[in-house]
Amino acid sequence: MKILGIETSCDETSASVVEDGNRILSNVIASQIEIHSRYGGVVPEVASRQHMLSIVPVIQQAMDEAKIGWKKIDAIAVTKGPGLAGSLLVGVNTGKAIAFAQNLPLIGVNHLEGHIYANWLTAQKIEFPVICLIVSGGHSDLVLMKGHGQYKLLGRTRDDAAGEAFDKAARILGLGYPGGPLIQKSAETGKPNIRLPHAWMEGTHDFSFSGIKTALLRMAEGGKIALDDNAPSGLPSKNDAAASFQKAVVDVLVTKCIALAKELNVKQILVAGGVAANKALRETLITRSPFQVLIPPFILCTDNAAMISACAYYQFQAGRTDGWDMDALPALKLA
Ligand code: KG4
Ligand code: ZN
Repeated sequence: MKILGIETSCDETSASVVEDGNRILSNVIASQIEIHSRYGGVVPEVASRQHMLSIVPVIQQAMDEAKIGWKKIDAIAVTKGPGLAGSLLVGVNTGKAIAFAQNLPLIGVNHLEGHIYANWLTAQKIEFPVICLIVSGGHSDLVLMKGHGQYKLLGRTRDDAAGEAFDKAARILGLGYPGGPLIQKSAETGKPNIRLPHAWMEGTHDFSFSGIKTALLRMAEGGKIALDDNAPSGLPSKNDAAASFQKAVVDVLVTKCIALAKELNVKQILVAGGVAANKALRETLITRSPFQVLIPPFILCTDNAAMISACAYYQFQAGRTDGWDMDALPALKLA
């Protein structure tokens, strides 16, 4: 079964054709990073206008690269939420229009569920139940997944999501946007020699990252980090601050994720979302976890449509499709 997937929830316009939920025939991603970076973050109105310009060429390219025509497509999948309303609407309406015109089933996909299903696009065998660590720009969730489409939310962020914290920390250090990859790069040549607070949220599986970010802000504002060449010598460098921040966030994510996996005695941990592309997180989790850790390849961690097609395949197998009344749901929850 071949599913054309469409993803427009934030600032990537993406379309993909995936066969039987695991074989990627094409996965085209048009990033808007360059456009938004001059504003220091995603501007929702600009994002939706850019999706309007890119969506048709991106879908056409995905079909061309998959080397198939519409007659060979069996269903249309599209991210219906959560995400930016205007951005989601472009994908949802395009998906509906194609499904209607081609008389194909329409499958609306939860973006976070899509991130989880990026793990089904690898050759690894997944054995339920698993713990999913979802770390993206908007979410830091710990979810127990007992089977396809069965989720129990056990932990979440109380304030900033992990990706959001990376983006804000990068802004504080003047590194630019998007913060995650820039903090990672800066951290490579820094030493994690600044003690930043870790919020353990004892007795819960929840996270809180705003304290770490605020501590960094106070240090930067208080002149305790060498943010430019004129700073007095002896201060920790920008790279040291990035390394310290990354280590603190990764430490909390890894420790809490492994603790939950031990408590529930699962065999595997699945990692998903843009922050799963972080090398320190990947290496630390794999090193410290007594359980098998599955993490998608870098390109499938950040937003892409292949993960949406993969997720839709399992929904379709379970008999779940959507009607023409399907709407964009900016605040859609996973569980
Ligand atoms: O999943 P995603 O592409 O979009 C959302 O669904 O939010 O995640 C984007 C987030 C951004 O906050 C970005 O800074 C972060 O993922 N990110 C990273 C890395 N690559 C992307 N964070 C840390 N290290 C990275 N290498
Ligand atoms: Zn995402």
